[in-house]
Amino acid sequence: MGDAQALLELRGVTAGYAQDIDVLRDISLRVEAGRITGLIGLNGAGKSTIIKTICGFLPPKSGTIAYAGQDISGVAPHRLIDLRICCIPQESSLFPYLSVQDNLLLPLLGRPRQFAKEMRTRLQEVFDLFPVLHEKRSQPAGSLSGGQQKQVEFAKAWLQQPRLCLIDEPSIGLSPKISEEVFVWIEKFAQAQMGILLIDHNVRRVVRMSDRICVLSLGRITADGTPADFAGDLHQQVQQWLGLNF
Ligand SMILES: Nc1ncnc2c1ncn2[C@@H]1O[C@H](COP(=O)(O)OP(=O)(O)OP(=O)(O)O)[C@@H](O)[C@H]1O
Ligand SMILES: [Mg+2]
Repeated sequence: MGDAQALLELRGVTAGYAQDIDVLRDISLRVEAGRITGLIGLNGAGKSTIIKTICGFLPPKSGTIAYAGQDISGVAPHRLIDLRICCIPQESSLFPYLSVQDNLLLPLLGRPRQFAKEMRTRLQEVFDLFPVLHEKRSQPAGSLSGGQQKQVEFAKAWLQQPRLCLIDEPSIGLSPKISEEVFVWIEKFAQAQMGILLIDHNVRRVVRMSDRICVLSLGRITADGTPADFAGDLHQQVQQWLGLNF
């Protein structure tokens, strides 16, 4: 970390859904290329709101959001794909009645024809990575298990070759075994030089795999550090950061 230009940098971002209520207050955080920034906090702390603000669904009331040195505060969400920013949201982003393959290719539809060959190569790459999706490529995405649908989400993200991937609660509702697979895919994304902002309720796993961890409490960053800073009795520390030490 340090002085190099961050891939994503939020500075003093305040945002909210209503004019007079701020859900995020003075948020500053960084994501570097090839690194994972983990964001942890209680339900309702504002974690998903941070992602919605970065994606332009919620323009900041103050502060700046810089991406690769460019101010993207209040960006139109449909421009994210061209900026090579990809979001894997907390809710499903799949069309349940469309086939797995159509779901994978949908974000790439507007690409010029000369990319067709490259797309086929990339599609083969995701089918090698997730063989079950090749097997089920013609089935409606909604007929797949929760874990397989998560594979579609990650495969779809991989196809877009983003530089920045915002991942919200990827392990929610999944078995411990499938959750572990999901965390390994995220590490693979980071190894491919993507910058990752990761939100997950599995605090220990997030702390272990992140290069930088931010704790969000009632819309404010109340702690920020490396995994080493979070070593020791993590549970008690996190309880304290989250204001649960009565
Ligand atoms: N569309 C919305 N309109 C108004 N308020 C909202 C909206 N979405 C979220 N909120 C409120 O903003 C606050 C932060 O919500 P957010 O979803 O960002 O929390 P979170 O940390 O992601 O929680 P969780 O762990 O449950 O996903 C909550 O008080 C929530 O009720
Ligand atoms: Mg959320």
